[in-house]
Amino acid sequence: MLIFSAFIIRLSCILAMDESMLNWEVFAKSDKQVEYETPQTFETETPTVYDMNLASNVSKILDALVASHDRRIRPNYGGPPTEVNVTAHVITISAVSEVSMDYTLDLYLRQFWRDNRLAFNPFNNNESTSLTIGIDMVKSIWTPDTFFPNEKKSFFHEATSHNSFLRIDNQGNVVRSIRLTVTANCPMNLQTFPLDVQVCALEIESYGYSTADIIYHWHVQNAVTIDENVHLAHFTIGEHFHIERTISLSTGNYSRLTTYFTFKRNIGFYLIQIYFPSSLIVVISWVSFWLNREATQARVAIGVTTVLTMTTLMTSTNASLPKVSYVKSLDIFLGVCFFIVFASLLEYAGVGYLMKRRRGIPRSKSSTTVAYFDYNDEPSLRVQSIKRGRRMSRKEVPLNGVQEQQSIPLISLSPPNHNQSRPNVVVIEPEISRCCRVRPSQVDLFSRVAFPVFFILFHIAYWAIYLNI
Ligand SMILES: *[C@@H]1O[C@H](CO)[C@@H](O)[C@H](O)[C@H]1NC(C)=O
Ligand SMILES: *[C@@H]1O[C@H](CO)[C@@H](O)[C@H](O)[C@H]1NC(C)=O
Ligand SMILES: *[C@@H]1O[C@H](CO)[C@@H](O)[C@H](O)[C@H]1NC(C)=O
Ligand SMILES: *[C@@H]1O[C@H](CO)[C@@H](O)[C@H](O)[C@H]1NC(C)=O
Repeated sequence: MLIFSAFIIRLSCILAMDESMLNWEVFAKSDKQVEYETPQTFETETPTVYDMNLASNVSKILDALVASHDRRIRPNYGGPPTEVNVTAHVITISAVSEVSMDYTLDLYLRQFWRDNRLAFNPFNNNESTSLTIGIDMVKSIWTPDTFFPNEKKSFFHEATSHNSFLRIDNQGNVVRSIRLTVTANCPMNLQTFPLDVQVCALEIESYGYSTADIIYHWHVQNAVTIDENVHLAHFTIGEHFHIERTISLSTGNYSRLTTYFTFKRNIGFYLIQIYFPSSLIVVISWVSFWLNREATQARVAIGVTTVLTMTTLMTSTNASLPKVSYVKSLDIFLGVCFFIVFASLLEYAGVGYLMKRRRGIPRSKSSTTVAYFDYNDEPSLRVQSIKRGRRMSRKEVPLNGVQEQQSIPLISLSPPNHNQSRPNVVVIEPEISRCCRVRPSQVDLFSRVAFPVFFILFHIAYWAIYLNI
């Protein structure tokens, strides 16, 4: 029993050790840990008794530095401009918003500059000694007044203390790192939305010092890094690049750093939520072409429902987008879908109209035969063309053919006279106007082919154009 419990305790110890090692590995990847590595090894390697002396020596050095330092004037005052090198490590990117046209970055902003006034004698005559100092020291030394020209709002992180550090080496090189959350302006062109790629900038500049006093540089070649854990729901983060330039303002020329982040919108969400449903709604509207033409209620219901559904889809889609005055590619797609759905509703209206027109025409070869009795002896008589809603032409039938046509309704224009026993017969054929020559079933048959073909061609053209932009 004792052995067993000892084994359990041993096992739990091993597990705990594994866990702590695992945590260590996870944190070792993060940037902050790497930055603090040097002081940790420095502290552990020095004996405790020795540490007391060193600490008092560092305090003396810092006191001496601060006492002789005037934080109101920049390094090399009167000399060449101070070089401030910048790196940025982006921890998170969030809220890339089309509506407010901005995006939010959480980043470590590090600034490197050299202030010869902060140089001190290294300990033990070592070549370089670096001191990591609390943020309070920042209040005593000169720091560049860096700001973000295109920010909307930004804030420091204060949990659990101010997220920043200052590091000074014996040559007077200063490193200042701050953790910031910046919401920056990012004007977006949504013409190809949602197949668009947005390029958003983050600009860094000195507020007060012109190029005569401060020149900004990106510190090394890959000065801007994005944490590998940065993922956005509806964007893929693409290439980022950075430039240095000088901008001219009325107060002088300023050195400005700009880094550009590329956000490629993920189409998946829009395929699932918009493209696929709207295509299906269009297909549903074609069901109407296969239904019986007499099924008025069913066909009208399908037409109206699909039109209303498309309207809802268009409205809800645009509700979450800024009210831009140009046409987005999504608008084109939804517009064409709406047009097709609307056209299939109109198709039934046309079919219904044709059916109504044709119902007025007798079925027997679409002609009316009128027989009349002639009082004169003339073999043929001119009959005024009868207008009954449509133009009639007349055709005279030989009199001796009358007996064979039993089904002809005889209309006597006047009471039959004993003088004439055999009637003249006129066949009046309605001259159907061109629209009525088309049969409703033909319209349906044509629509069954034409609508899908048009929609497929539109799909091919749409994706070919927008995927290649
Ligand atoms: C602290 O300074 C004194 C002289 O000022 C020197 O003798 C001593 O070695 C220094 N201690 C360390 C740890 O540098
Ligand atoms: C800034 O970076 C440049 C290279 O980009 C380097 O030559 C210069 O020494 C750096 N200055 C500081 C103060 O680190
Ligand atoms: C001085 O430098 C050596 C190696 O160059 C290093 O081992 C030692 O820790 C340094 N001492 C101090 C006080 O920085
Ligand atoms: C700013 O730079 C331009 C040339 O790039 C120069 O003509 C102008 O004088 C400069 N302005 C100031 C205030 O230095």
